[in-house]
Amino acid sequence: MGAGLLMMSMTGSGLAHAGPIKLPPPEMAGGMPLMQALKARHSAREFSSEALPQQVLSNLLWAANGVNRPDSGKRTAPSARDWREIDVLVATAEGVFRYDPPAHTLTRVVDGDLRGLTGMQDFVATAPVNLVYVADHDRVSEDADADRRARFVAADAGFIAQNVYLFCASAGLATVVRGLVDREALAKALKLGANQQVILAQSVGYPAGRH
Ligand SMILES: Cc1cc2nc3c(=O)[nH]c(=O)nc-3n(C[C@H](O)[C@H](O)[C@H](O)COP(=O)(O)O)c2cc1C
Repeated sequence: MGAGLLMMSMTGSGLAHAGPIKLPPPEMAGGMPLMQALKARHSAREFSSEALPQQVLSNLLWAANGVNRPDSGKRTAPSARDWREIDVLVATAEGVFRYDPPAHTLTRVVDGDLRGLTGMQDFVATAPVNLVYVADHDRVSEDADADRRARFVAADAGFIAQNVYLFCASAGLATVVRGLVDREALAKALKLGANQQVILAQSVGYPAGRH
């Protein structure tokens, strides 16, 4: 996203204290027919360092877990008992941002380039976007037993990851979902609270060799 996001966030009192960054409205028309996107879906582990344009980032995040029914606030991905407990964090060269689905904004949570901490494979440090799926257990009902909660939370992150896979297939982007993450180190770097848990990460960018 490079200069685009940076410029958007430098309004007001400057980058360090910038408020939420408003993303352009997602483009909900068009895209590849679903059956073709399913045919094209695959994992890729080589990325161009080219930044994602803001519109592509907007579309990606809406596809991931955006609000598709404003009346209820429900999302493009299902969630167990409508907990909506998975936060999508966006790690870029410019910092880490939290996607707010109802507002369709990004809010900076950490300064600096933490991409390399989002996984244990070399490409994560240079992929332009690494999404991190973080469960907020404060939004999970305690009446479910611990095993059940863990299964549901993992499933909920998986649905978001698959939305991202299908969007990427449709938009000509490369992506891979990743379980190989040093969750403790990443949680510390992201300053997560005790009830927040890193579930999965997912790299997104243009395929290597595009330019
Ligand atoms: C829960 C989960 C965790 C995964 N973790 C990693 C990972 O840490 N690193 C990686 O390169 N691929 C990871 N993958 C991607 C799989 O290796 C990949 O989906 C599989 O090889 C099948 O390839 P395909 O996605 O192209 O069909 C993961 C996939 C899933 C569903």
